[in-house]
Amino acid sequence: MKDQQENKKFHYHIITFGCQMNKNDSERIESIFESMNMISTDKPEEADVILMNSCSIRESAEDRIYSFSHEFAKLKETKPNLIVAVTGCMPGRDKDGTLRKRLKGVDLFFPTKDVIMMPKWLSELNPELRPIDLELDYLSVKPHVKSKFQAFVTIQTGCNQFCTYCVVPYARGMEVNRPLKDILDEVKSLVNDGCLEITLLGQIVNHWLAKEDDKFSPNNPYTQNDFAKLLWELNQIEGLERIHWTAPHPIHMDDEVIDALTLPKQLNFIHLPVQSGSSKILKKMNRKHTRELYLEKIKKIREKKPDIAIGTDIIVGFCDETDEDFAETISLYQECDFDISYTAKYSTRSGTTADKAFADNITQDEKKKRWFELQHLMEDIVLRKNQLYLNKEVSVLVDTFKNGMCGGNSREMKRINFPGDKALIGKIVKVIITEAGHWILWGKVL
Ligand code: 5AD
Ligand code: SF4
Repeated sequence: MKDQQENKKFHYHIITFGCQMNKNDSERIESIFESMNMISTDKPEEADVILMNSCSIRESAEDRIYSFSHEFAKLKETKPNLIVAVTGCMPGRDKDGTLRKRLKGVDLFFPTKDVIMMPKWLSELNPELRPIDLELDYLSVKPHVKSKFQAFVTIQTGCNQFCTYCVVPYARGMEVNRPLKDILDEVKSLVNDGCLEITLLGQIVNHWLAKEDDKFSPNNPYTQNDFAKLLWELNQIEGLERIHWTAPHPIHMDDEVIDALTLPKQLNFIHLPVQSGSSKILKKMNRKHTRELYLEKIKKIREKKPDIAIGTDIIVGFCDETDEDFAETISLYQECDFDISYTAKYSTRSGTTADKAFADNITQDEKKKRWFELQHLMEDIVLRKNQLYLNKEVSVLVDTFKNGMCGGNSREMKRINFPGDKALIGKIVKVIITEAGHWILWGKVL
């Protein structure tokens, strides 16, 4: 203990890139630094250890790590004891060391699962930093959550799908699922501390598989799909109000998972990545679903929950995507009537099948043109859909307060602002919508 007290004078600074899973990993890393009795700082120049949690999904995300590493290498000239660490997806996929070579002044470069070794490595670099003993499995490290009422819960890491454009299976390895008990214990402990909303995270969250000795309740109504069973178990936790999950894969949206969308705590929103509306491109992407299968899943979801909001991910300008293929993406978008799309221009990633086997043959200008076309379509559709909420009541979990205005998400994951009080933060409030924009709806408390 005395040793660790000595760490009190050391500061750490974390920079997180990428998805919610990286954010949740950073919460674990923060909790490791805190257990070492180190102090968080938001000023890199004040830090003794700077850790970047990297994302590799697109080239631009990796470019930012290179540029930060140059900046920190300069900082090291005036602060020679500064330790710079990089974890996340970049070290995971850098099998031959090419990425690391391009990084300046980085002392530690390790994949996320090795973060349990970080205290030991830090103390080797700076013997004044006292290490701590950690669990062997990094997922068992309890995340240092900032919000008392909202939390991420990673239930699975890695991915076995090998979509041809995607680095995730290389960066994060094969799929690993957490045991049922660990997940339920983590959620119960969060709820005990006041948590109202959880977001379950997994690369293919609806492919979560139970362990052989995981025991579900005897009255669990689902018999086929472990993820649907898990959702039902989580719905039984008293005090938990909202359950959300991301990201599912269309091929695992079976009837039980679709039925579980009607469970009482389930948010009225689903994010279901499609990537393209052309079956030819989907095949080339190794998505293992067609346009028709995706449309059938959306139809079934809407039959169960007619007013559900739906989001998606789309990649434009994938290898060999013709104008006709892109027109199919546009028509699928219209047919699905999505509320939101996270649209990306295809960016080739070294090591992936697409990079090795296909030519990145759509020009940047064409990718940009297609991106804007989809963006405009999204804006038209979402405005029309948001106006349907006028004079309707929504339920908002308030998470911010500024200048007399409360802000929070509705169950449809729409951003709602309304005049209110700071004391409403962390409360679920009924709001009637009076004005609807593209990305914000305004209302008043009932
Ligand atoms: N280029 C562009 N977008 C990509 N995504 C994944 N890999 C790439 C890539 N190489 C997008 C997909 C995925 C989201 C997380 O990132 O749409 O669903
Ligand atoms: Fe990447 Fe495809 Fe796995 Fe999603 S399902 S993480 S896009 S390989």
